[in-house]
Amino acid sequence: MAVYDSLARFYDQAFAPFERRFLARWRDETLAMLPHGSDIVEIGSGTGANFSLYPPSRCSVSTEFSIKMIEIAATKTVGNHLVQADGQALPFPDNSFDAAFATLVFCSIPDPHVAFREVKRIVRPGGRVVLLEHVRPEGMFGTAFDVLNVFTKAVIQDHFNRRTAEIAANAGLMIREVRVKARGAVNLIVAEVPEPTLLEANG
Ligand SMILES: C[S@@+](CC[C@H](N)C(=O)[O-])C[C@H]1O[C@@H](n2cnc3c(N)ncnc32)[C@H](O)[C@@H]1O
Repeated sequence: MAVYDSLARFYDQAFAPFERRFLARWRDETLAMLPHGSDIVEIGSGTGANFSLYPPSRCSVSTEFSIKMIEIAATKTVGNHLVQADGQALPFPDNSFDAAFATLVFCSIPDPHVAFREVKRIVRPGGRVVLLEHVRPEGMFGTAFDVLNVFTKAVIQDHFNRRTAEIAANAGLMIREVRVKARGAVNLIVAEVPEPTLLEANG
């Protein structure tokens, strides 16, 4: 993704003040929701900000679209495998993982519905999906985000007014919990891949 290729070398420095004030704490809380000793996949791992927080895993895979982001992430790996992939077309067979997670990613994926369908496909039924995302808050604050979205979408392809939990639910994930942060501008979303219905199970 061209925008993130050009942002990659500034990314860690630009985010450092936010990491210090609240992001690092929210990352801790998000990754603490993942199961231990299983197969996990991160979508849009960026420069690898979450790598040091990965739980002990049988296998951990970090996917990212931008090659420039991957080049930086490669200097921070902790035994995880780095794979270049579009979140909308993940190169893994069905039911490959026990859990998937993403932080600040579904705001930039062009079609989040398609990406959530992919997550649902590659995570086994009963598996967990954990997301930390900035989202559209309710009320006047939400209207401000609608305006902001016009600029962020045009300049950095970042959608500021997505209702991410709703999109995930529409794509077939079961939402288990939404922790509201920053007056509703950020959500920590815990979801689960549902067991197949009898009809689906029988093809
Ligand atoms: C705001 S950054 C977040 C990076 C990292 N997850 C973090 O928390 O610091 C958004 C990331 O999503 C990635 N991204 C955007 N579109 C994507 C897509 N279609 N598939 C996979 N990753 C994508 C970008 O390249 C970028 O690394």
